[in-house]
Amino acid sequence: MENPLGTSMTRRGFLAGAGALTVSVLLAGCNGSSGATTPAATSKGMGATTLVVFFSRPGENYGSPDLVNVDVGNTEVMAGYVADAIACDVFEVEPAEPYPSGYFDTCDRARRELDENSRPAVANLADAPDPAAYGTVLVGAPVWWGSEPRVMLTYLESQDFTGKTVIPFTTHAGSGLGTAVADCQAACKGATVDEGRAFSREGQSIASAGDAVRAWARGLGLATR
Ligand SMILES: Cc1cc2nc3c(=O)[nH]c(=O)nc-3n(C[C@H](O)[C@H](O)[C@H](O)COP(=O)(O)O)c2cc1C
Repeated sequence: MENPLGTSMTRRGFLAGAGALTVSVLLAGCNGSSGATTPAATSKGMGATTLVVFFSRPGENYGSPDLVNVDVGNTEVMAGYVADAIACDVFEVEPAEPYPSGYFDTCDRARRELDENSRPAVANLADAPDPAAYGTVLVGAPVWWGSEPRVMLTYLESQDFTGKTVIPFTTHAGSGLGTAVADCQAACKGATVDEGRAFSREGQSIASAGDAVRAWARGLGLATR
């Protein structure tokens, strides 16, 4: 059993150990986002000049103190808050082979993909909006093993972001942005990549992070709603 937030432990031991190991930032980390508004995994703004792209995985995930099960992934909730605030189109990156619902199974697969630096296929790549239509692209993803999920790299490398501003944002359980900014810089050739923003648990739940996320999005200088 592999996990990114602790070393070989039992499930319960892992959770206890993870809390001890990652100090306050992790303890302020993500949780199950029950009750949050789901965002738009659809186009939200005709003629918008900003595109929000996200990848998110529902199912069992890290939570403190216990694993949690969510119908809507944390990053999807965050993308919804962003889309509340700014005039944008929204595109969800969907893996051709969905990730397992189990947390540890997903950790194992994500670890393999990272080690192999693979590019898992994206099911809906043909539906991706052309970045040429936008000035700014926000790229949201969970931190997986300290990095951008490889499936997001598949999407990013398939698009032409030349001349665009790319703003990464992550949700995480203690790692902040991880290597998301560097990963986006490497994948989005010709783009200016912003310093980005990481969202952990702001309050007791992802659901209560809405104000902070919307305030951040409104502060980006983009057209708002
Ligand atoms: C495969 C996997 C790897 C993860 N690796 C990390 C990590 O390295 N650092 C971290 O802070 N959180 C890590 N997490 C926790 C997620 O980043 C966090 O729960 C995130 O909010 C999940 O977003 P999602 O629900 O949109 O998928 C990991 C979770 C999974 C499933």
